[in-house]
Amino acid sequence: MAYRSLRPFDVEVRDGYRVSLRDVVPDDGDLIELGFDRLSKRSRFFRFMVAKKRLTGREVEQFAALNTADHTAFGALCMRASRAQAVGIARYIRTSGEHHAAEIAITVVDAFQNRGVGTLLLGVLAKVAKAHGITEFLALVAKENDAIQHLLRELGGTEETQGDPEGSISLPIYQDPQNYPDGKAGIYVRRAYALTKLTTV
Ligand SMILES: CC(C)(COP(=O)(O)OP(=O)(O)OC[C@H]1O[C@@H](n2cnc3c(N)ncnc32)[C@H](O)[C@@H]1OP(=O)(O)O)[C@@H](O)C(=O)NCCC(=O)NCCS
Repeated sequence: MAYRSLRPFDVEVRDGYRVSLRDVVPDDGDLIELGFDRLSKRSRFFRFMVAKKRLTGREVEQFAALNTADHTAFGALCMRASRAQAVGIARYIRTSGEHHAAEIAITVVDAFQNRGVGTLLLGVLAKVAKAHGITEFLALVAKENDAIQHLLRELGGTEETQGDPEGSISLPIYQDPQNYPDGKAGIYVRRAYALTKLTTV
């Protein structure tokens, strides 16, 4: 299946900040490393499930790889002093053997958390994933990661495994955003769907 890229767009998030959302491209290695530097130890642990001090060159290359229908990432950027700063990144990787499912990871730098950027990125990711045949997201989450659990549950996510130090949450992905439950997260996801336009093949 050919990948249909996201038309970049700008949106205002909580507290009046404007962020730009777009596909991650191979030139984004530096932005990804700078974004990683702005993550707290706790956020790094929640994202990678290990204490992580830096990204390896190989990881940076993988995280900035050109998007395909099976592995897609979007970045949220904010202009500061006329320079683009990475404030968030979200990706899905299609699960091998289960064509309809994809594992996701979302990261927002600490200074931008709780402004709706994570929900927005998740909404964009969901609409694009659905256009590429994905109907279920799976997120590996640390038990103490209340933020992502709250967000995914509010959108209808359910826990797949119980009793492990990390659990997997499954989230159904819909074509029609009205199918996501009402509530703050649902409103943000519907807004993300409305703003997300894909290039035609
Ligand atoms: C999880 C994460 C992506 C959320 O991004 P964000 O931009 O802060 O999320 P949003 O602002 O869109 O929404 C967060 C929601 O979680 C809630 N939340 C935040 N911290 C919370 C906590 N400790 N307990 C419960 N809910 C919490 C917020 O109140 C908000 O809900 P609301 O809209 O009903 O108020 C971000 O916290 C992050 O990058 N964490 C570190 C990496 C990580 O955990 N990634 C997930 C691995 S898949």
